[in-house]
Amino acid sequence: MRVLFVNCCIRGEESRTLRLCRAAIDQMKESLEDVTIEELILDQEEILPLNSQRLAQRHELEEKGQFDDPMFRYARQFAAADMILFGAPYWEYQFPAMLRCYLEQVSVCGLTFVYMEDGRPKGLCKANKFFYITTAGGPILDRNCGFDYIKTLCGNMLGFTDMDYAAAECLDVWGVDVEEKLREAEGVLREKIKSWR
Ligand SMILES: Cc1cc2nc3c(=O)[nH]c(=O)nc-3n(C[C@H](O)[C@H](O)[C@H](O)COP(=O)(O)O)c2cc1C
Repeated sequence: MRVLFVNCCIRGEESRTLRLCRAAIDQMKESLEDVTIEELILDQEEILPLNSQRLAQRHELEEKGQFDDPMFRYARQFAAADMILFGAPYWEYQFPAMLRCYLEQVSVCGLTFVYMEDGRPKGLCKANKFFYITTAGGPILDRNCGFDYIKTLCGNMLGFTDMDYAAAECLDVWGVDVEEKLREAEGVLREKIKSWR
């Protein structure tokens, strides 16, 4: 099983989100068969937002069906994975802009989804399982704009039917035992992964 780990943990080895992702990967290797991890470190990719020039180039390639162009490498990789893991800190109630730029790259009509005759999108990705991990400085409460948005995009448009989530919250709140919070979140995510079929 090829798991695509989209690593948006910008603080690298300092990142608490990355620590949770590593625990998730360890648990996947323990509980699931033949797991191989393909890690995409967004901080090393320099993915630019779509501007007029890049959008026009992309439209031209889409119309010709030239999906083997390097421009579509992220979408091809995303569509081919057996499972997707996203790790991103909770920034501005959502996630870093880098991840939004990546999502522009993977949402490609004709590659990761198509529109059906009635106008509804249909996902073309091989995977249906998606796991999202985040950590937040404060409480997330009902303002989970990052995962809510990802659920809409990946669930509604890209066809993922099985989307799960784990978080550690309040890590920057004065007096909080950060280690305890992280261990608690690791326990929760490990239990979730163990229950996957
Ligand atoms: C640019 C930036 C924006 C942030 N925005 C929020 C926010 O909106 N809400 C919140 O609770 N914490 C916010 N935080 C705090 C982070 O979510 C928190 O420190 C998180 O654990 C960082 O994850 P990391 O250790 O993986 O980098 C922000 C931190 C940064 C650097």
